[in-house]
Amino acid sequence: DNAGYRYFMRKEILEQPGAVSRTLAGCVTNGRVIEAAFGSAAGTVFDRTEHVHIVACGTSYHAGVVARYFIEQICRLPCSIEVASEYRYRKPVTPRGSLLVALSQSGETPDTLAAARLARPGGFIASLAICNAPKSTLVRESDLVLLTHAGAKLALPATKTFTAQLVALGVLIGALVRRYEDDSCRERELVAQLLTLPAVIEATLALEPAIRSLARRLAEERHMLLLGRGIMYPVAMEGALKLKEVSYIQAEAYAAGELKHGPLALVDAAMPVIAMAPCDTVLEKLKSNLMEVRARRGQVVVFADPDSGLISKEEVASIAMPGRLAEIQCPVVYSVALQLLAFHVALFKGIDPDHPRGITMNSGRE
Ligand code: BG6
Repeated sequence: DNAGYRYFMRKEILEQPGAVSRTLAGCVTNGRVIEAAFGSAAGTVFDRTEHVHIVACGTSYHAGVVARYFIEQICRLPCSIEVASEYRYRKPVTPRGSLLVALSQSGETPDTLAAARLARPGGFIASLAICNAPKSTLVRESDLVLLTHAGAKLALPATKTFTAQLVALGVLIGALVRRYEDDSCRERELVAQLLTLPAVIEATLALEPAIRSLARRLAEERHMLLLGRGIMYPVAMEGALKLKEVSYIQAEAYAAGELKHGPLALVDAAMPVIAMAPCDTVLEKLKSNLMEVRARRGQVVVFADPDSGLISKEEVASIAMPGRLAEIQCPVVYSVALQLLAFHVALFKGIDPDHPRGITMNSGRE
């Protein structure tokens, strides 16, 4: 039963503030991370962790790419990530002190399970599962587990499980940064920023009417580019995946600095280019990339911070996102907006977003 909502996808998008609060409730207290929430051995494992390797598929992979930026930037630990379907068939070299992190909302994706099973033979110190299904195979087989509490996922496209994964990864970062910083300042700051996310997500959900109008304009398009830099690049990747999956638009994500190495040739007046522009350290770089797009008459659409200088009539369309976001909040908030965009484009095209063609629910199938 989808409780009065016509589509589970929209219901699950709107459930995200709750998914985030419930996930945090089990693993933070008094402004700090509860390490035992990962399992009794967590402290010893994190003390020995010198490198993090993440494996995942699809949307979960994108959550992992976001986490890689933060694990390196905030915890100063080297971090690598690979799609599980590639990793499992390689002969990888595992650096000393590596922790394997498997991300899977279902805990049953065969490639992710196979990759996680390489933890012991591969020389990892331990495996950690971040998962939404407490009774899943992945949870049973992993040394450490952090559960997300997004609730049952009934729509095929992953929405609330993705944001809950990002938050759980934020908690992992809080636990790891303890070991890098002498005091608990950074950890407390991170936890406080995670705890304010439900309110910021609410503010993003309130943008639905504006995003719906944008969706109406984009529904006729057959292809588009999504641009981001830094942590916004994986957000663009996830947005592009949602647009492909539920709107059947050939949406491609690029790290904005890569445009000049080929994709710019695709840009003309018929190419919508959607850019994610929070006020971060790479905003000015992104702006110069957008000038290149405008010079080729590309249709620039921005999801941007109110103070970015990009909310103007110069753009074809702009959505003013919540401002003054902490860096750890940006991927969650901008992803919610892109989920709403993909959902409404699907509806304008007459597509049932809960059941995209050719895709089935994860159930151990390979
Ligand atoms: C795919 C789903 O089959 O599996 C994606 O369509 C999902 O939405 C991916 O992200 C991975 O799933 P899981 O359960 O391992 O996170």
